[in-house]
Amino acid sequence: MEREINGELLNIPTHVAIIMDGNGRWAKKRLMPRNVGHAEGAKAIERTCRNADELGIKYLTVYAFSTENWKRSVEEVTGIMNIFRKYLVDSIERSNRENMRVCVIGKRDGLPDDIVEKINNLEEATKNNTGLRFNVAINYGGRDEITRAVKAIADKCNNNEFSVEDITEELISNHLDTWDIPDPDLLIRTSGELRTSNFLPWQLAYSEFYFTDILWPDFDKDALIEAIRYYNKRERRFGGVR
Ligand code: FPP
Repeated sequence: MEREINGELLNIPTHVAIIMDGNGRWAKKRLMPRNVGHAEGAKAIERTCRNADELGIKYLTVYAFSTENWKRSVEEVTGIMNIFRKYLVDSIERSNRENMRVCVIGKRDGLPDDIVEKINNLEEATKNNTGLRFNVAINYGGRDEITRAVKAIADKCNNNEFSVEDITEELISNHLDTWDIPDPDLLIRTSGELRTSNFLPWQLAYSEFYFTDILWPDFDKDALIEAIRYYNKRERRFGGVR
């Protein structure tokens, strides 16, 4: 879809994925605890959802907590879980007001029971909204997601729902947490790191990657437009020749 933004005609990516990095550094620069950076990061999420919707992005997927993030200090993990608790409850009303559907991807196993319950409530409360589809990856790891998909597929083979010959890329995609959304067109990673850190390894196979030094809590509408501008300079070939 094309949109005129600040006098410029831009092709808007349908699905944008974001690795929100730099909350800790943002806080450190201000001599504040890391969790203050995460709380500020949560505000940046709300802002980015509104901005994405205004720009015409249809799907936004963010990496909020990886399967590896449990290795952080108990204090930091507890702080992040408390930010999730607040976000999952508060965002029901806001999401409904903004017609946003929220879904959580990642492994539910291993999350505190009350968080799983809050995730289910939020998904249920927003399931009929037709605006931005916002996916939050919590306790997510790409290899874990693929492993869970392989197990589900193997189970179905064992139960004779289909045979090994029926396994295609499409069937695998349909067993991932992102089974009902298109692959990202653009991946953004903030705060200067050049890694994908186990985020959507299957789904990002043909995505454009944009890296910015901006720390996540500072990510604003101009930063999002800059990423889209970069995306517009790329020529996507999907392995073909143009
Ligand atoms: C990366 O910054 C950030 C995280 C691992 C946590 C992201 C979590 C939030 C933004 C909290 C809110 C989420 C929701 C869904 C409400 P970092 O800590 O690795 O930063 P650093 O690299 O500067 O240390």
